[in-house]
Amino acid sequence: MDVYQAIAARRDVRNEFSGEVIDDARLMRVLEAAHRAPSVGNSQPWDFVVVQDPDTLARFADHVAQCRDDFARSLPADRATTFRPINIEGIRTSGTGVVVTYDPTRGGPHILGRHTIDETGRLSVALAIENLWLAATDEGLGVGWVSFYREPYLRDLLAIPDPVTVVAWLCLGPVTELQEIPDLERFGWRSRRPLTDAVHRESFRPATDEFATDRESLPATVPAT
Ligand SMILES: Cc1cc2nc3c(=O)[nH]c(=O)nc-3n(C[C@H](O)[C@H](O)[C@H](O)COP(=O)(O)O)c2cc1C
Repeated sequence: MDVYQAIAARRDVRNEFSGEVIDDARLMRVLEAAHRAPSVGNSQPWDFVVVQDPDTLARFADHVAQCRDDFARSLPADRATTFRPINIEGIRTSGTGVVVTYDPTRGGPHILGRHTIDETGRLSVALAIENLWLAATDEGLGVGWVSFYREPYLRDLLAIPDPVTVVAWLCLGPVTELQEIPDLERFGWRSRRPLTDAVHRESFRPATDEFATDRESLPATVPAT
């Protein structure tokens, strides 16, 4: 797979885990890919906690189920109906959780580049996660990012010390297939925006000025060939 193929094939996985647990060789390869990510001041502020104890997975899954219920209750009726069939995690079925953390003290007090923008530290961790995600796709593995949790609960469950914080729980495991269309799109929750809406030129003027006008007026002004 080249990098564009991996980017196109990557999916957030909840329902397609095969039930087989990832072998250690592939686990270490995807962690190595994560660990090669760029980071502000080369601070490498991430750590990876690999969780495979069925009891810990079950406890976390129960907590996530409660958070899912809280979210469902907060929704208006139409959104609640759309949300109901959507699975938001694969904690037990993946067999492995990789909990990715951020240590703001890594590299000492003088992090080159973070002195003006503190969030570049956590952003670096997000890049490590994307590296892991793409490498996993190449390895025939699925990744599902779970953020339906209360951080204090997870810190306590995994004995994560201050001032380290949790960035993500990633479900990681072999899959039977990867969907072509994201679950949230297939279930009608939210679709992808067109690239032309996201790209601005020279300033943050609404993209409608130059791109949407092109898109919408083309059929009327350009004769079909
Ligand atoms: C920061 C972050 C948090 C996410 N949290 C969840 C989550 O708690 N549960 C879930 O099912 N998906 C979660 N996702 C996955 C997104 O729903 C998914 O990436 C998006 O719908 C696009 O689908 P795709 O990744 O398959 O392209 C999360 C993704 C990101 C980047």
